[in-house]
Amino acid sequence: MGSSADISMNSGAGNSVDNGMSGGAGNGAGGGMGNGVNASAGGDINGGAGNNAGSSAGGGMNNIAGNSVDNNMSGDINGSAGGGMGRGGVGILGTGSCLPEKVLTNADLEKLVDTSDEWIRQRTGMSERRIAAGAETATSLAIRAAQAALADAGVDGSRIGLVIVTTCTADYYSPSISCQVQHAIGAPPCAAFDMNAACTGSVYGLVVAKHHIDAGMCDYALVVSAELLSRLVDWTDRATCVLFGDGAGAFVLGRTPGGYGLLSSTLMSDGAGANMITIPGIHISDLDIERRGGQKKQTIWMDGGKVMKFASRAMVSSIEAVLEKAGLSLGDLSLVIPHQANKRIIDNAAKKLQLGPDRLFVNVQKYSNTSSASVPIALDEARREGRIRRGDHVALVAFGAGLTYGAALMRWA
Ligand code: ACO
Repeated sequence: MGSSADISMNSGAGNSVDNGMSGGAGNGAGGGMGNGVNASAGGDINGGAGNNAGSSAGGGMNNIAGNSVDNNMSGDINGSAGGGMGRGGVGILGTGSCLPEKVLTNADLEKLVDTSDEWIRQRTGMSERRIAAGAETATSLAIRAAQAALADAGVDGSRIGLVIVTTCTADYYSPSISCQVQHAIGAPPCAAFDMNAACTGSVYGLVVAKHHIDAGMCDYALVVSAELLSRLVDWTDRATCVLFGDGAGAFVLGRTPGGYGLLSSTLMSDGAGANMITIPGIHISDLDIERRGGQKKQTIWMDGGKVMKFASRAMVSSIEAVLEKAGLSLGDLSLVIPHQANKRIIDNAAKKLQLGPDRLFVNVQKYSNTSSASVPIALDEARREGRIRRGDHVALVAFGAGLTYGAALMRWA
């Protein structure tokens, strides 16, 4: 159990950054895959060797209400039809996760800030979260989740031909976590890059990896989502510090029989909402400083109310889009694995989609919001609980900073 003394070590006050010398270095990855006309996929990609993935600049118009499926990086992926190689489908062969041992409860948070267990549970559905110990890093969690997924898939690390790590809390700007994972799992020299699509990262990573295999670039790919939000939370700010936890989850992708694996996907961005959730990097604007009590803190800030409204709409439109692309309807869905940001967001979306608890996986009460790691952690847990069987239609759906949002629909192999 984490004590308040443990947590205050990570206080946002200790994260201040003097960026007086920094210029306006951009971090957007240039793409080549998108034309940037409509809402487009918007992840930053921090590349390792052989990186051939790209994302278009995410400056499109907000098209959530219109259920747009006209996005640059999504595809219809129905069995051999969408693969280009005529070799069946591509899907998830194994999952794994890694959660730090240390549990931080709502009662622990009551000792840190002016909050209550009742407020947190009612407003978020969260009861506890995991916090990484001092020696743990996003990289160490990523490696353990990757090893668990490889073991689950029965695939040796030496067969992996692509490593994608999704994170918005990387240990280093460089080297990428993915290069370290590639080495740690014993993969041969191969493409490896980190991708930042915030909480939507795992869905983005999954879709990019799927296309990499479809294009014949490799037979097996590893997608790991690893986040250490506890290191970028201001532990004096009750509006954010109660919401986040640490963890990592991973997928191993490979070929599946035709008709199984990923059926359809949608990846979206709306940079018009870029200021709704921010974690400064080497640049901290005047607005960032104002929002952080006048201090240059490298901590997370968000407009929770606005994000909530966006989130439920984004979840609904993304699920509707992938169902339409796959020629399926809501009644065909066996299980939805949503980003675990807030139980109220999940419930609002589920109500609109008429999904009962039997077709929805929720574990936000245990781990709180682990950003891009939340979907793969939840998928791994759902499988271990026996909630997914061969032939089930499973949808992963997420939203996050950027803004980004998206979904992937699969027929479980
Ligand atoms: N304990 C007690 N009171 C609190 C706390 C707290 N921890 N935090 C805020 N309050 C107070 C506020 O000050 C406010 O008080 P006031 O009415 O006197 O001003 C009151 O509670 C209500 O605050 P709201 O912000 O209106 O509460 P809301 O119902 O919107 O819930 C929350 C806040 C939980 C943050 C919600 O807006 C939310 O979950 N938003 C979405 C967050 C999200 O999904 N993020 C995902 C992206 S993150 C990423 O991509 C890395």
